[in-house]
Amino acid sequence: MPKKLLIQGGTLVNESGTLQADVLIEGERIKAQAQPNTFSPQEVDEVVDATGKLVLPGLIEPHVHFNSPFMGTTTVHDYDNGTIAAAYGGVTTIIDFSTQPKGGSLLENLGKKEEEAKGKAYIDWSMHGILLDASPLTLKEIPELIEAGVPTYKCFTTYKHADRMMDDDGLLRVLDATARYGGMLMVHCENDTIIEHHLRRHVEEGHFAWIYHARSRPPAAENVAIQRVIDLMTEVTAPVYIVHTSTAESVTLIHLARARGLPIHSETCTHYLALTEEKLLGENGHFYICSPPLRTQRDVDALWMGLKNNCIEVVSTDDAGVPTADRIRLGEGRFDRVPNGMPGIEPRLDLLHTEGVHKGRITLPQLVAITATNVARLFGLYPQKGHLGPGADADVVIYDPTVRWTMSSKTLHMNTDFCPFEGWQIVGRVQSVLNRGEFVIRDGALVGKPGRGRRIFRKLEVGSTNLNT
Ligand code: URP
Ligand code: ZN
Ligand code: ZN
Repeated sequence: MPKKLLIQGGTLVNESGTLQADVLIEGERIKAQAQPNTFSPQEVDEVVDATGKLVLPGLIEPHVHFNSPFMGTTTVHDYDNGTIAAAYGGVTTIIDFSTQPKGGSLLENLGKKEEEAKGKAYIDWSMHGILLDASPLTLKEIPELIEAGVPTYKCFTTYKHADRMMDDDGLLRVLDATARYGGMLMVHCENDTIIEHHLRRHVEEGHFAWIYHARSRPPAAENVAIQRVIDLMTEVTAPVYIVHTSTAESVTLIHLARARGLPIHSETCTHYLALTEEKLLGENGHFYICSPPLRTQRDVDALWMGLKNNCIEVVSTDDAGVPTADRIRLGEGRFDRVPNGMPGIEPRLDLLHTEGVHKGRITLPQLVAITATNVARLFGLYPQKGHLGPGADADVVIYDPTVRWTMSSKTLHMNTDFCPFEGWQIVGRVQSVLNRGEFVIRDGALVGKPGRGRRIFRKLEVGSTNLNT
């Protein structure tokens, strides 16, 4: 008989509201939710008291780079330590990337990720692809990828120096295959020519300070690249998801394109909502080098407004921490040599609750939408995940919205000595996390086992990407 578990006394939050309700779990699934005291505690195996707590759907993190080689180093998280840190942050499903080997087969590479995760993952996981070219082999593999449960894949409009850039011709070909076979293209938008122009000038002039990372990747580089993708989409229309938007203008550009009926979506990341480029001015500015770079307070404010207006549909973390020793060794004191990327998989919920909900910038239902429900809908995980309705996987976060604490890398669980939000005063903390009906975190302690996380194969529903059109 599947175990019956009752979460009692909590405030349930879903994308459209909050209500006092109890949740009945049977085995791996949500059986029902109902008004308090509907279910009899005598008829279940276990009762979990959630009085005074929020009961949220498990978060889905759609943008992490686990064990990913880049600019001479490898990111700090793998399926072991990365999924532990994720779970402490209320995440029950991550979507990682499998990168096409240059000139090679992305499909073959999927198997490697499966090996990496085997026996390690504490929570469920899934995969996007990263396409480095639009060769006949790549285009042939797109329908096979979609068929293999990987219906979303990313291209870069920059990183030419790292041989990762997709040009307009490539983008059009990939858009065409995406439209034909029913996938969704994710795009890292920064115009490489603009970046290279500024980079060359700053290096020639001997400007190596960390702030020149932001100066060489100005908002225009991102805005031009987004507009370019929009223009290409008008020629070949397929669903597109712009990753890690950081500028005020990106919100308007994407909003206008959507208003014209284009199936375009976007995310921003926790760090763009909380930090500004001033971080690059300090001696330790190299810790904050990521691409796109941190922006200004005006951009931060516009991104929050974009979330409030449902223009930006998702907040991810783009977790891509770089080992501190490699930042220093490879960076050689120059902004242009520091491997890009920051860790962030754990603090997303706490940051959004503190800076968003507590400060009145977004509501609790919006918090659930941008971290779980919208993500599930956009990435083909709905209705299995992203909500607490009957039949969904019992992925649940019990969150205490009253706890006050100070964020620090010393007490977080990420595999790094750097936390971008060190010293921040936080309101709210994850108490317990269940993934498919099993506790992974219980009363703040890790109780899940490595390898229990399952690979989730995804399928985009027709029209599932039309969240706001
Ligand atoms: O700086 C970043 N974002 N590093 C990770 C790779 C990417 O571009 O998403
Ligand atoms: Zn990127
Ligand atoms: Zn990324």
